[in-house]
Amino acid sequence: MYETFFGFKEKPFALTPDPRYFYPSRVHREALDHLLYGIREREGFIVITGDVGTGKTTLCRAILLQVDEGMTTAVVLNPILSEDELLRTILRDFGLSAAGHTKNELIAELNEFLIRTVTAGRRAVLIVDEAQNLSHVLLEQIRLLSNLETERDKLIQIILVGQLDLLKHLASPELKQLNQRVSVRYRLTPLSFQETCQYVYHRLMVAGGATGVSFSSGALRAIYRHSQGIPRLVNLAADRALLQGYTDQSREITGRRAQAGIRSLVDDGAGHRTRGFFARRALFVVLVCALLTGAAAAWIVTKDRALVPPVGRSAVPAVSAASPTTPAAGSRFAVLVGNFPTEPAAREVESRLAGRGFSTVVARNSEQGTTEAYSVLVGHFADMAQAQQVRDGLASQEGFADARIVRTRDDNGSVP
Ligand SMILES: Nc1ncnc2c1ncn2[C@@H]1O[C@H](COP(=O)(O)OP(=O)(O)O)[C@@H](O)[C@H]1O
Ligand SMILES: [Mg+2]
Repeated sequence: MYETFFGFKEKPFALTPDPRYFYPSRVHREALDHLLYGIREREGFIVITGDVGTGKTTLCRAILLQVDEGMTTAVVLNPILSEDELLRTILRDFGLSAAGHTKNELIAELNEFLIRTVTAGRRAVLIVDEAQNLSHVLLEQIRLLSNLETERDKLIQIILVGQLDLLKHLASPELKQLNQRVSVRYRLTPLSFQETCQYVYHRLMVAGGATGVSFSSGALRAIYRHSQGIPRLVNLAADRALLQGYTDQSREITGRRAQAGIRSLVDDGAGHRTRGFFARRALFVVLVCALLTGAAAAWIVTKDRALVPPVGRSAVPAVSAASPTTPAAGSRFAVLVGNFPTEPAAREVESRLAGRGFSTVVARNSEQGTTEAYSVLVGHFADMAQAQQVRDGLASQEGFADARIVRTRDDNGSVP
């Protein structure tokens, strides 16, 4: 909308992890160095972690631009549910047909390819993003892939990238062997204030408009205060600050304009935190929702249940609730925070949320195919709007951006 006004060729603060915009902050540079070192030295597993929005996916894409001709890479970017799907995704990303019908056939195809690659003097690198979402079974499968070797060489170098929970998974006893093979670890942390300022100008420059707009130091301070140096949040805030400038038809982004932009972001529920603000906001939302839920549940149970709006079946987590955490009778909606491969992992998230005032449920999910998964859900809501409100509050909390609304069981125990 405002691109022409400021003279940008595109939006400078889009949320896509576009490596053309890569700004080599201290941590991003160090992470890249660790990655390149690990790959060059054929170290074991490399693990890169960081909170949501710290730039992990952008880093994965940036490394692909840096790899030389001697390297062939496959990147798994989306959450994967089964071993079969995982293997096929890897094979396809290496440019193979993935024609095999069984797991063994798929592994054989990969093995042959890797041997050809190594024989040609090249290196194969597999990058798995969002690896915190992989079940232990899949992580173990990935470890087994790393065992593919000739008499002299390992055939594949594996990089796991994920949120901080990944480290907890790796520390679990079942993944001891994998954990022991991790030889390079690096954690992405937020940008400093100075880096945040440079980051903003770097992105303006890449978008082609650094001379058409100026951010005052007050504006940069407001953006930093809001984002705490997390690039994703910097982008959201800077985008709104520009929009405010455009609304005022001014190319000077002052502190006041930046603050107004940030306020609009927060009012939209898209604007994530300063932490104190959101702790208060979450508490407020929870209190309001608790009141609304009580009132609405009483009303719905006694009156007209048909008024509950429909949601798509794809959103059903197929929760078979485990006692004593069975959702209350009459409940219809919950906010699914995530599925976790082990109960302790789910309990850990549950206690983090409890610390922030959310009332959570851990439910055993028996319908996820190859692995047992535990779902962490927040609340039971009689109507969609309440669930939506809590989801928005949750999604704006660090680490819970993917929270989504699901249907819970009906009174008779079936998923409606
Ligand atoms: N070093 C960086 N340089 C430029 N943009 C970045 C950098 N790190 C993060 N970003 C931007 O921040 C947003 C979130 O980054 P992303 O890589 O998706 O984070 P994560 O994968 O850790 O959640 C994206 O818009 C991305 O372009
Ligand atoms: Mg990411």
